[in-house]
Amino acid sequence: MHIAGATVLLTGVTGGIGGALAAELSARGADLILTGRRREALDPIAARLGARTILADLADPGDVLRLASEAAGTQILIANAALPSSGDVLDYTPEQIDRAISVNLRAPAVLARLLAEDMVTAKQGHICFVGSLSGIAATKSSSMYTATKFGLRGFSLSFRQDLHGTGVGVSIVQPGFVRELGMFANTGSPTPGGVRTVAPERVVKGVMRAIERDVAEINVAPFELRLLTKIASHFPGFSERVQRLAGAEQTMDVIVAAQRSSR
Ligand SMILES: NC(=O)c1ccc[n+]([C@@H]2O[C@H](COP(=O)([O-])OP(=O)(O)OC[C@H]3O[C@@H](n4cnc5c(N)ncnc54)[C@H](OP(=O)(O)O)[C@@H]3O)[C@@H](O)[C@H]2O)c1
Repeated sequence: MHIAGATVLLTGVTGGIGGALAAELSARGADLILTGRRREALDPIAARLGARTILADLADPGDVLRLASEAAGTQILIANAALPSSGDVLDYTPEQIDRAISVNLRAPAVLARLLAEDMVTAKQGHICFVGSLSGIAATKSSSMYTATKFGLRGFSLSFRQDLHGTGVGVSIVQPGFVRELGMFANTGSPTPGGVRTVAPERVVKGVMRAIERDVAEINVAPFELRLLTKIASHFPGFSERVQRLAGAEQTMDVIVAAQRSSR
């Protein structure tokens, strides 16, 4: 799918990776529709990039429906917004569990379902989800994040098969720990086990490549983390022991404390 000239709906634009994606899409000549839940953060970005905006809280099912309706005719959906949803699930209220699922899984699925209809009619379009390596391997203190990202990966890979032959592609791009900006960098914490981070530009490149070449899944992380993730997906019990031996728990505690207010 060509990005230049295409109408692109991007969620999570007020966040680190979303901001970087918006700048790249604008530079490539996309006709941008930016959505976020905070007018004061959304408007300056849109003004800078000459983009249209739609205010929507993705935790609110009514807002998600209105967003899809106001963004009808979108040719490329990039579902990037998410909550960090870290922490022991015993510390979560049922409302916080609902919000994690709503923002990270339900909203991307509903937007994809509603916007895909016009894309199928037009026989062209692309849906790109921003997932995480947490959609492949489980780590401690991330039950809700892991659950939603596993779910998003399953939805993406299966929906892609449903749309095969329609001209509409579906991709998922799954970063590891991103440095400099975004939900991990904002915590100021080192990575669990000291694993290497990835530059945000690599994530942006991954999303562009997924859309332009219709790639099913792109994992964006240093080689060793991609390998460890694959091993962990096959041998979760082994991975759990390795993570404990690497002392990942103490670092996770720092990350969870920094992200607690965003549940
Ligand atoms: N950063 C990393 O290391 C990393 C690693 C792997 C995967 N990812 C994935 O990359 C994507 C972007 O993450 P990021 O690092 O850029 O995170 P971020 O800086 O925290 O940005 C998250 C974005 O989601 C938006 N959002 C949260 N709740 C929302 C709601 N109820 N309604 C509308 N928007 C909402 C936020 O809006 P507000 O500004 O209003 O809060 C923000 O724009 C996510 O899918 C994340 O899971 C990130």
